[in-house]
Amino acid sequence: MRTRPLKVALLGCGVVGSEVARIMTTHADDLEARIGAPVELAGIAVRRPGRVREGVPAELVTTDATELVKRDDIDVVVEVIGGIEPARTLITTAFEHGASVVSANKALLAEHGTALHAAAVEHGVDLYYEAAVAGAIPLIRPLRESLAGDKVDRVLGIVNGTTNFILDRMDSSGAGYSEALDEATALGYAEADPTADVEGFDAAAKAAILAGIAFHTRVTISDVHREGITEVTAADIASARGMGCTVKLLAICERTPDGSAVTARVHPAMIPLTHPLASVREAYNAVFVEAAAAGRLMFYGPGAGGAPTASAVLGDLVAVCRNKVAGTTGPGESAYTRLPVSPMGEVVTRYHISLDVADKPGVLAQVALVFAEHGVSIDTVRQQGKDGDASLVVVTHRAPDAALSAVVEALRSLDTVRGVASIMRVEGE
Ligand code: HSE
Repeated sequence: MRTRPLKVALLGCGVVGSEVARIMTTHADDLEARIGAPVELAGIAVRRPGRVREGVPAELVTTDATELVKRDDIDVVVEVIGGIEPARTLITTAFEHGASVVSANKALLAEHGTALHAAAVEHGVDLYYEAAVAGAIPLIRPLRESLAGDKVDRVLGIVNGTTNFILDRMDSSGAGYSEALDEATALGYAEADPTADVEGFDAAAKAAILAGIAFHTRVTISDVHREGITEVTAADIASARGMGCTVKLLAICERTPDGSAVTARVHPAMIPLTHPLASVREAYNAVFVEAAAAGRLMFYGPGAGGAPTASAVLGDLVAVCRNKVAGTTGPGESAYTRLPVSPMGEVVTRYHISLDVADKPGVLAQVALVFAEHGVSIDTVRQQGKDGDASLVVVTHRAPDAALSAVVEALRSLDTVRGVASIMRVEGE
């Protein structure tokens, strides 16, 4: 039995890193029993040593991350600094020096996952990143390992807590976007610069990672169609309510119907209140996985925060340490299908379109003709008169996204259409 402790270098000691350090210290005996060898924190690299949190061993703190990952005695590097650089170079250097890596870095994995996996294989070490997608919720390992014998067809989920909090507030209180964002900022859910969350970049990175693993292919963030929530209005939410729906920012990864390609997208969408994702409130995350044999699985829980994210990091740490003890490595990238990623225009979906139109004979027929000319079938039409004009809400059947956008474009050019008040996709039916 191995007696030399496994040595861990921690890169970053913010909200997540300090929780990792705390749990490693307080649960040392249990971790040793589960791994089969003691595991010890050997160094913590930070940018600003003055800001290191209480309870973090000050003697382990360094500002020289490069020197730390080059140390020959380091077995595992835990990277929780985020961003592309210096994380990418530090992880690559860690591999070159024989260390396995546990990372929570979705942006890095979504852009450079393939190269990093290849580097890990080249150096005979592990790269694990459960914490990169949906915080504490086990998703990467179930997709990579538990479902390795099944065929995943679809992954549909709420993978960003900040935007879910904002949309939930808009839904429950009738607040507008800005007001709900201000509340999310005041409560610490949204960052001072909320761009990554509200514009959908964070969710798109997670969608890329999930799609790659689910479909055994390669998907990068640039393959993911992305729309954020900044344009969602209180009227959209009210309109959704009127249809028995709510609005959620969804990450949707699917195989195309003929199985020859995949699609990955992030955008706000209406989902029926009866859909399980509709009941995901506040900053929680939830992901539906549909697999041929397993059927529909749902994963739910806290998708962010220091302790929940640290839980996922620690789970990976135990796994890679066990592999080190056994002298082996775990599953790496499985991208053998090399399926192309289809553009958004080919995605088949439904639209909810709200129009302000002139209330006079022939207008409805004119609007209906536009849909017919683009081969888009109408499911329901609702009209409400208002001061000589009318509000017309059209919900379509499923059609290619390109045809639906062409319909909207054509509607905008009709004289009788005063304006397109809102367009939203309808999912989850
Ligand atoms: N900012 C993310 C969220 C958590 O709001 O869910 C980290 O990915």
